[in-house]
Formats: sequence, C-alpha cells, structure tokens
Amino acid sequence: MRDFEFYNPVKIIFGKNKIEKIAKELKAYKKIMLIYGQGSIKRNGIYDRVVSVLEDKDFIEFSGIEPNPSYETLMKAVDLAKENNVDFLLAVGGGSVIDGTKFISAAIKYSGDDPWNMLSKCERVLAAVPLGSVLTIPATGSEMNGGAVISRKSSGEKLSFGSYLLMPKFSILEPEVMYSLPDIQIANGIVDAFVHVLEQYLTYPMNADLQDEWSASLLRVIVKNGKAVLKNRKDYDANSNLMWAATMSLNGLIAKGVVEDWSTHIIGHEITALYNIDHAQTLAIVLPGIMRSQKKEKFEKLIHFAENVWGFDSGNNEENVENAILKTEDFFNEIGIKTKLSDYNIPKGAIEKICKNLEKKNFVELGENKSVSPEVVREVLTFSL
Ligand code: NZQ
Ligand code: ZN
Repeated sequence: MRDFEFYNPVKIIFGKNKIEKIAKELKAYKKIMLIYGQGSIKRNGIYDRVVSVLEDKDFIEFSGIEPNPSYETLMKAVDLAKENNVDFLLAVGGGSVIDGTKFISAAIKYSGDDPWNMLSKCERVLAAVPLGSVLTIPATGSEMNGGAVISRKSSGEKLSFGSYLLMPKFSILEPEVMYSLPDIQIANGIVDAFVHVLEQYLTYPMNADLQDEWSASLLRVIVKNGKAVLKNRKDYDANSNLMWAATMSLNGLIAKGVVEDWSTHIIGHEITALYNIDHAQTLAIVLPGIMRSQKKEKFEKLIHFAENVWGFDSGNNEENVENAILKTEDFFNEIGIKTKLSDYNIPKGAIEKICKNLEKKNFVELGENKSVSPEVVREVLTFSL
C-alpha cells in the first residue's frame, strides 16, 4: 500500500426532514446565494422547503444551471455574486449544480485573467467562497469531494478541476428527494457510482485489502439497491442505501493508498463534449472496452471483481473474468443504460474525432499504467460499435 493522508471535512446530514437543519449551518454567514438547476426543485417541493429555511436570512438566487454545467452560464452567476458580496453559496441539485457552484466559488475569488485557466492550465485554486449542498440525485459524489467537471460551449471542452477548498461545508442527503427522479436519472446514478468504484479499484494489486473489500462491497450494495429502487421507487431503505453508497464511492476513501485509472471518465467526457449525451451513458459505452482491452493489465483485480462482486468463482479465472465483463455490460443494459455507440446514434466516425480531441489535450497516456494511448482508445471504442 502507498503512503497517504486522508482528510475529508464534509459534514453529512443524512435522513428524513434534514433540509430544515440548514438554518443552523448557515448561522455564521450574512449573504447567501441559492443556486439551482432548471426547475426540478420547484416541481418537487424542495425549493419551497429551502426558501422557508432561508426566509430569515439575506439571500439571492441564481437558477438555470444545465446538466453538464457550462462556463458561460456559471460566469453570469459569478458576476451576480460579486455584485451582491455573497459570502456563502448553497447548491440545491445534482452533480451539475454542485459542480457549477464549486466553479462559481473559486471564480469569485480568482484574480488572474480567466478562471477557466484553473481547468485548462491547471492553475491552483488559491481561495474560494464557502459552499454547502442539498443533494437531489445520488450519482457523482460531488457532495462529499472537492472535484468539479465544467463544460465550455464555445470551445467544446469538458474539463475537471478540484481543491480541498471546494469541499462543501455540509451536504444534506435526504433519500426521499429521489422519489421525483425519472427512472433514467436513477439508472444514470447507478452506473456513475459503479464506474467511480471501478476507476479506483480495477487496476493492479497494491496489497490494500481494506480498500479492495470496501470497493467490492460498495459495488454489491449499488447493484442490489439500484435494482430494488428501480423496482419500487418508494422503497426508503433501498433509496437510502443507494444514496449513501454513491456518496461513499467518490469521497476519497477507497482511493487512498492505491493507484487509480480514470481513463473511462476522460474518454467519456470527450463523448459528452462532442455529442452532449449524459455522463453515465458515456461511461457505459467506454467501460466494457476498457475492461477488454486492458484485461491483461487488470487481470488480478478482474478475478477479485468476478468473485467478490458477481460470484463467478469456478476456478477457471479466464472464464470467470469474461463472465464478469459480460455480466457488467448486461447489468447496465438491464437497468436501461445502453452500451453501444449506435444506441445513441453516434456514428463510427466519432472514434477518430474522440482520439484527435484527446491528443489535442495531450491525454495520450491514460490509465493506471499510462498505457491507454489514442491507439488503445480506438480499440476500446471499436468494442462498442
Ligand atoms: O436541472 P434540474 O431541473 O434540477 O434537473 C436535473 C437534471 O435535468 C434532474 N434532477 C436532479 N434532481 C432531481 C431531478 N429531477 C427530478 N427530481 C430530482 N430530485 O436530473 C437531471 C440531471 O442532473 P445532473 O445534476 O446533471 O446529474 P448528475 O448528478 O448525474 O451530474 C452529472 C454531472 O456531474 C459530473 C458529470 O460530468 C456531469 O457534468 N461529475 C462530477 C463529478 C464530481 N464532481 O466528483 C464526478 C463524476 O464523475 C462526474 O463527472
Ligand atoms: Zn462519473
């Protein structure tokens, strides 16, 4: 196991009727900006509940953050926050709203030419306005980490950045908010959380027993409760287990002391940037190809995955691994997230475009072994034709 430091100061407030607890968390702040997406919180009652808590505070609103939040929209929020001397940002939404709020938080304090440089030139985040979140879709883990992914429409880029300064002060997790999500967003969340675990676990052995066992158990919990939620959308315990597992899948814990992959995500971001399809759908397209093309490098971990997540333990490792890859693909399809480029009307020619865009950004040595070159990406995506 590698040496590591672990620090995660996000306060999680989990359970029923927790939005009302925000009042206590906001006591120290004078001017709040409530930030949300394109209206779901107005339809499911979350907006009214949040506003009734904020009534005693001085607050303004910024709405309209889109899925795959755009730099262009977020810069409008930055101007509004600066004009109003906002000292706390309250994100109410899914990963897009929380990520967007992280960008706004860092951009308000940014003193260079263009806050986009924090993503495109990896400039460090030196200061940030404190933020908190009310999570409305379990998927990204953004509610308990310091990362964010932002798209820039004008240049067709989708890039990530992060800092400890961007970790929420608190996040409210009320499983009942999931009842209003369309099935497809539940399924997206299941696939996203599942792949987050794999990016940190399906690499090569590091003798990190606890991280491996945590990862396998997270995957089992996601599969079991994901299916249960889709079967009975108001099963409170299944919703609770899925929500908590998604948060735990990307809060830094299982990545400590081990190597990480992230090639599926980086390739997936290029697909979203070009074709604007949901984040999780891009992962479902890319992951099976990564497992196949990197089978040799990942073999030991694939055996662990096959045995401990899907129960394939016949003694024939080659057969078990192949079954596990097929089972993973079947699982995604079964819950409604298709795994082929053609399922999304993406033409074969997309493969070249994706490879070129990765090369432009110098993303030419992806994966835990830096072995996923554009040549390998071509092979990976060919599996999904
Ligand atoms: O905009 P509104 O009207 O709120 O509608 C949203 C949106 O259309 C809707 N929704 C959210 N909560 C709802 C709801 N509808 C009904 N009831 C509710 N309770 O769902 C739609 C999707 O929301 P979005 O926030 O885009 O989904 P998700 O949480 O999957 O976030 C995806 C974004 O997060 C990034 C992705 O790249 C993508 O941009 N990621 C962020 C990560 C991080 N910060 O650590 C890691 C991930 O790998 C990922 O890259
Ligand atoms: Zn993801």
